[in-house]
Amino acid sequence: MSTSEKVLAGFKQHFTTTPRLYFSPGRINLIGEHIDYNDGFVMPAAIDKGIWFAVAANNTDIANFVSVDLEDSFSIKVNEIAKKDGWKNYVLGVLHVLDENKISFGGFDCVFGGNLPVGAGLSSSAAVEGGLLFALNTIFSFGMNRIEMAKLAQKAEHSYPGVNCGIMDQFASLNGQKDHVILLDCTSLEYKHFPLQLDEYDIVLINTKVHHSLASGEYNKRRKQCEEGLALLKTKLTDATSFRSISSKQVREQKNLLDPKTYDRCLYVTEEIERTQLAGKYLEENNLIEFGKLMFQTHEGLSKLYEVSCDELDFLVDEAKKHASIIGARVMGGGFGGCTINLIKKEKTNATVASITSAYTEKFDVVPEVYIMNTSDGTYEITG
Ligand code: GLA
Repeated sequence: MSTSEKVLAGFKQHFTTTPRLYFSPGRINLIGEHIDYNDGFVMPAAIDKGIWFAVAANNTDIANFVSVDLEDSFSIKVNEIAKKDGWKNYVLGVLHVLDENKISFGGFDCVFGGNLPVGAGLSSSAAVEGGLLFALNTIFSFGMNRIEMAKLAQKAEHSYPGVNCGIMDQFASLNGQKDHVILLDCTSLEYKHFPLQLDEYDIVLINTKVHHSLASGEYNKRRKQCEEGLALLKTKLTDATSFRSISSKQVREQKNLLDPKTYDRCLYVTEEIERTQLAGKYLEENNLIEFGKLMFQTHEGLSKLYEVSCDELDFLVDEAKKHASIIGARVMGGGFGGCTINLIKKEKTNATVASITSAYTEKFDVVPEVYIMNTSDGTYEITG
């Protein structure tokens, strides 16, 4: 049974209403990590793994949720939305921000489930938030566009789940386009879809199976350190408005102003903003070799300066460097576990992955999961 069939079967089992079916994708990110909340640029794409939602209005004042993956369910009055625990907060966060924005909705039945590995850095939480919001937007005719939905879904993640994330994940999940990467300016939210021409290369994710936990507070801590660093830098660089207007050279010149950790964070951010601009140019020139080198540099920065890697991720990237068939590799997403993203020469993918898998298994006694990625359109209703 496919995941969407499982979701529909679950719906039939629990409810008598007639649902509409939606797909909400996860995302990958080629480059531009931890700078969506620092006025940087990112290059995500929606992927063909995600969460399916079956949703129907039920003409009551009760919202009923069933997670087929977790075999768990709960109900809540739509005018009594409150924080609960675990997965429930991802859907309740959406209802909470709708409330806060005085967007009214009635009762509904909702069953969802997916094929996105949770805690792997593929944005299962954004797929849940964006997918639910998209479904409710169509069912209750809120009239929101995809950018408004991305902003609200981001706020949902800030609310009950408590992760002060940037806009990248929700934006990519809602605005992706098959066979394209999104070049997103996180300050203006201007974006363009750029054709992904990776002809000879596969995008391969290798999952350490170390579950990252952004909610653990480290993510929010990084964000705070950046804010504090920026405020200090602005006292000296009086023309600066954001990290966008500060170069890595200027950060180096102000080293004495910042404590060592804050300095490292600010240096990473400004270097990554510079790297993504260069990466955009290489992508447009179809110069994937140079693009890949920047991915390795990003990993180095995320590992040494931003400190969001872990031994397992570093090991996978070190292994990747041993293979000429891999032109770029790095930790992807929030970090602290999850996946590396690798650009691998197609005809060598199987052999390369087999070699890295066996080295990883030998070292950590865990068999990593491997996904060859396909892109997808942003959240959509499945009709017919
Ligand atoms: C998580 C967050 C995003 C982004 C990435 C790191 O996925 O949700 O907003 O900050 O980490 O690039």
